Amino acid sequence: MPKMATDARTDFGFEQIPLAEKAGRVRDVFDSVAARYDVMNDLMSGGLHRVWKAAFITWLRPRRNMHLLDLAGGTGDIAFRFLTAGGGNVTVADINLEMLAVGQGRANGEAIPIPDGTLDAVTCAFGIRNMTDKEQALSEIRRVLKPGGRFMCLEFSRLALPGLAGLYDRYSFGVVPRLGRIVANDEASYRYLAESIRTFPDQDRFAGMIAEAGLSNVTYRNLAGGVAAMHSAWRI
Ligand SMILES: C[S@@+](CC[C@H](N)C(=O)[O-])C[C@H]1O[C@@H](n2cnc3c(N)ncnc32)[C@H](O)[C@@H]1O
Repeated sequence: MPKMATDARTDFGFEQIPLAEKAGRVRDVFDSVAARYDVMNDLMSGGLHRVWKAAFITWLRPRRNMHLLDLAGGTGDIAFRFLTAGGGNVTVADINLEMLAVGQGRANGEAIPIPDGTLDAVTCAFGIRNMTDKEQALSEIRRVLKPGGRFMCLEFSRLALPGLAGLYDRYSFGVVPRLGRIVANDEASYRYLAESIRTFPDQDRFAGMIAEAGLSNVTYRNLAGGVAAMHSAWRI
């Protein structure tokens, strides 16, 4: 069946929904949580997301002559860190205007409004998991990179410490949605977060998808025992 058939379905957390509805549902999630997004990140992760983002920027090694596109850039965490660490020029793109407290350029990661071969680097932090057609997003990322350009992704991934799985499940399906209700008045969006992490490909499968999109030298590093992972790849 062709992918764009009107009865095609996709995941939204653990739900199966019509493909055409996913972007709108994801937009609703981030409309709803935008105002409390940063504080929720700190609370949920105990500040750990800051350590992960710092490690991500260190691995990226920003330079003055680097033009970065931070895709699904949200409130600008990666963009700010890139500039502070010596990066030259950054464009923040996100599907959601509410999340774009910083930067400009409302843009869908599955159809990036940037010409071919123009960017030194593309980053995507906790964004691609929410996209409907991840293969299309990766293909777009490859298209906008210059030859020699680099893609880096920071995303929740698969826990590599099975002994902690029960604790992790109780935390992400129990504590996180409850925190979402108390702090952001939105339990459902934070349940979606936990579910979408479980349906996102694990480290090796995602590395395979990046390679399938035509990017090379794909490697990854786990963070917090695989709670999150950073993937790096190059357009050659
Ligand atoms: C969890 S937030 C991550 C924000 C930021 N990168 C960070 O690390 O804090 C996910 C972001 O992805 C954006 N997003 C979801 N689907 C998108 C798409 N198809 N294209 C671009 N951005 C998208 C959402 O609007 C949201 O701002």
